[in-house]
Amino acid sequence: MRYVDAIRIGILGCGTVGGGVVRVLAENQDEIARKLGVPIVVKKVLVKNLSKERSIDLNPRVLTTNAGEILDDDEIDVVVEVIGGVNPAKQYALSALDAGKHVVTANKELVAKHGRELWEAAERTRTAFRFEGSVAAGIPIIKALHECLASNRISEISGIVNGTTNYILTKMAREGWEFEQALADAQHKGYAESDPSSDIDGLDAAYKLAILASVGFGVEVAPGQIYTEGIRKVSKTDIQYARELGYEIKLLAIAKLDGEGLQVRVHPTFVPAWHPLASVNDSFNAIFVRGNAVGSLMFYGRGAGAGPTASAVLSDIMDVARGLSHNGRHYRPEVFKPWGGRLDVQRMEEIETRYYVRLQVVDRPGVLAVIAKAFGDNHVSLESVIQKGTGSPVVGLVFITHLVKEKNLRSALACIRTLSVVKEIASVIRVETGIEADVQRYPHD
Ligand SMILES: NC(=O)c1ccc[n+]([C@@H]2O[C@H](COP(=O)([O-])OP(=O)(O)OC[C@H]3O[C@@H](n4cnc5c(N)ncnc54)[C@H](OP(=O)(O)O)[C@@H]3O)[C@@H](O)[C@H]2O)c1
Repeated sequence: MRYVDAIRIGILGCGTVGGGVVRVLAENQDEIARKLGVPIVVKKVLVKNLSKERSIDLNPRVLTTNAGEILDDDEIDVVVEVIGGVNPAKQYALSALDAGKHVVTANKELVAKHGRELWEAAERTRTAFRFEGSVAAGIPIIKALHECLASNRISEISGIVNGTTNYILTKMAREGWEFEQALADAQHKGYAESDPSSDIDGLDAAYKLAILASVGFGVEVAPGQIYTEGIRKVSKTDIQYARELGYEIKLLAIAKLDGEGLQVRVHPTFVPAWHPLASVNDSFNAIFVRGNAVGSLMFYGRGAGAGPTASAVLSDIMDVARGLSHNGRHYRPEVFKPWGGRLDVQRMEEIETRYYVRLQVVDRPGVLAVIAKAFGDNHVSLESVIQKGTGSPVVGLVFITHLVKEKNLRSALACIRTLSVVKEIASVIRVETGIEADVQRYPHD
């Protein structure tokens, strides 16, 4: 047992997030020390390149390229991992936990792929492994699910958890741009990276959903179990049709209970215009949660950036520090066990939802009947049909289906693709109904 006069931290990485942690810590040091009773002191910061120019006020002697100076330093209580990627981040995090240090990370890929191993290491070494900044940065959703909503049986977590794709879809809707133009604008403004594939192909959202599902439902969900579809194929025509039909198109990460199974999927989604998620625009994130006691909640805010992510990382450090500073007693974190439950992840083919299907067809009498038959033969019933642009040889035909199984829709599309009157299956987008039903069930929320 030792008297704690300060919480000493070592930071692995000093980029956007690491630099943000240093800056926010400096700016809010009095506030933080007053709340904790002791200050937080940055003892060492690991970087790759010592000669890189940094916009933060940091004594150059604090910087190191030797991870051992942090991992082997007995005075360091908390290691903050904000390097990114799996290696060497995982190896450093495990070494820190094994050395009895608490680890705080904002690394979604690390937590989504190796969370279980890291939680087990934390349990074994009676340390904390915290990761609030790994999902939706500044929005305190992990703590909310794990602690504030712990008494609930969670039935749904649906969110806009990627700011880049939300910015692109917002620009397409507002400016009438096609995807490529909106992506170029996002890259120009710094919202999208030069290689934007992780964001626009839905991978980043899938990592975050794996973490949310693990925390919210108490089961281990690997990113590979999540059906993942990005926004590359969304066109301005789809956005216009969506609006005409009373929807906005959003990239949703959805985890919800369905009978004894769990649906986990990331894809562009028609969201009813009246739903709170439909009005989440630009680079903002929001997460909609439904619990059987609390009803429906929505968490909204900045899902990326130095300040919002530093806010989450520092709150984790402060949580750990509160335990450490209490009379110098060793911190005993409540252990997070996402693998405790039994809940099978449903196969995508078995999932039931509604669909928007846009076809390019030959403008000829009887075409609609032929296509409707192909849907009907595959047990896909139709809710509505819109036909536009009569007079040209090829016209757009839009269908909204009733609730159908994904496998039935796929077999209907396979038939439709063979019809000579169909020139193209231009677009297939899922229409979310669960959230609709939920809000109706809880009209008082
Ligand atoms: N950026 C955000 O808004 C945001 C939001 C939420 C979560 N995150 C997550 O936070 C993590 C960090 O993101 P970031 O945007 O801060 O990344 P970043 O700007 O690229 O910074 C990475 C930092 O790590 C250092 N680094 C990289 N590889 C290293 C190695 N092998 N050894 C030592 N140092 C190494 C780099 O050193 P040099 O400076 O010398 O190159 C740099 O300081 C990622 O997991 C990311 O997904 C980011």
